[in-house]
Amino acid sequence: MARPRGAVAVVTGAASGQGLLTARALASQGARVVLVDRDEHVYEAAELCDGTAIVGDVSDPRMWDRLVQDTTRDLGEITALVNNAGVFRVGDIATTDPREIDLLYRVNQLAPMLAARAVVPSMRRARRGSIVNISSTAGLCGRAGAVAYTATKWAVRGLSRALAAELAPDIRVNTVLPGLIDTPMAAANGFEVNTGIVANTPLGRIGAPAEVVPATLFLLSDHASFLTGTEIVVDGGLSA
Ligand SMILES: NC(=O)c1ccc[n+]([C@@H]2O[C@H](COP(=O)([O-])OP(=O)(O)OC[C@H]3O[C@@H](n4cnc5c(N)ncnc54)[C@H](O)[C@@H]3O)[C@@H](O)[C@H]2O)c1
Repeated sequence: MARPRGAVAVVTGAASGQGLLTARALASQGARVVLVDRDEHVYEAAELCDGTAIVGDVSDPRMWDRLVQDTTRDLGEITALVNNAGVFRVGDIATTDPREIDLLYRVNQLAPMLAARAVVPSMRRARRGSIVNISSTAGLCGRAGAVAYTATKWAVRGLSRALAAELAPDIRVNTVLPGLIDTPMAAANGFEVNTGIVANTPLGRIGAPAEVVPATLFLLSDHASFLTGTEIVVDGGLSA
């Protein structure tokens, strides 16, 4: 990442999967990384990154207030944010429990907004910032069987575009849309669904988390200095 040294980056959902790899990649390029997750494995993840672990719920606004206060005091102004934490559930509209719908809304849709709301004043003081929101190819189409997830991932794209317009020129906001990626989340689909998705993927396989991370790092970096409000789809051609 161009200009990584001195960058202060917050990565959510950093205890596993794509978030963990993103945090490690940022750290290896010289950023000071704050790793957030509700899962206590985030402590081990932070050790790998020589970073700071925060166990918390990304849909809790008080968590964000504390995070910004502590981070700016200890590390300086926040210059990068990756809203990666997410939850996935299969379920059609008639049978999905309202509590599940609420969970998906809070983690996937509300949390990135709360995060941006909390972090933007710090980025403005730094006079630079880059936010990457992780959506999904579910946010590009409508398929049966994951209605609530789909709705939240479409919302992430809208959030990114509105923020890109509102926060320019100092802060850029972009979206990464992964296809099927080999993390614990993909296991929730079940074997048959995943086999079907792979059959519809021109590259003919599930993606690795390490194949998504470069897109996120590029958008965070100064190499993407003229990119805001845009999207990178990393899906092996699934949505082509
Ligand atoms: N794996 C896929 O096939 C796939 C496809 C498209 C998009 N995505 C998106 O990629 C992102 C990363 O997912 P992943 O594949 O690495 O899955 P993952 O399940 O390995 O990681 C998600 C992380 O988010 C954390 N998390 C969930 N709810 C949280 C909360 N309330 N507060 C704090 N942390 C919370 C989990 O503990 C977990 O560590 C998600 O936004 C997901 O929707 C994944």
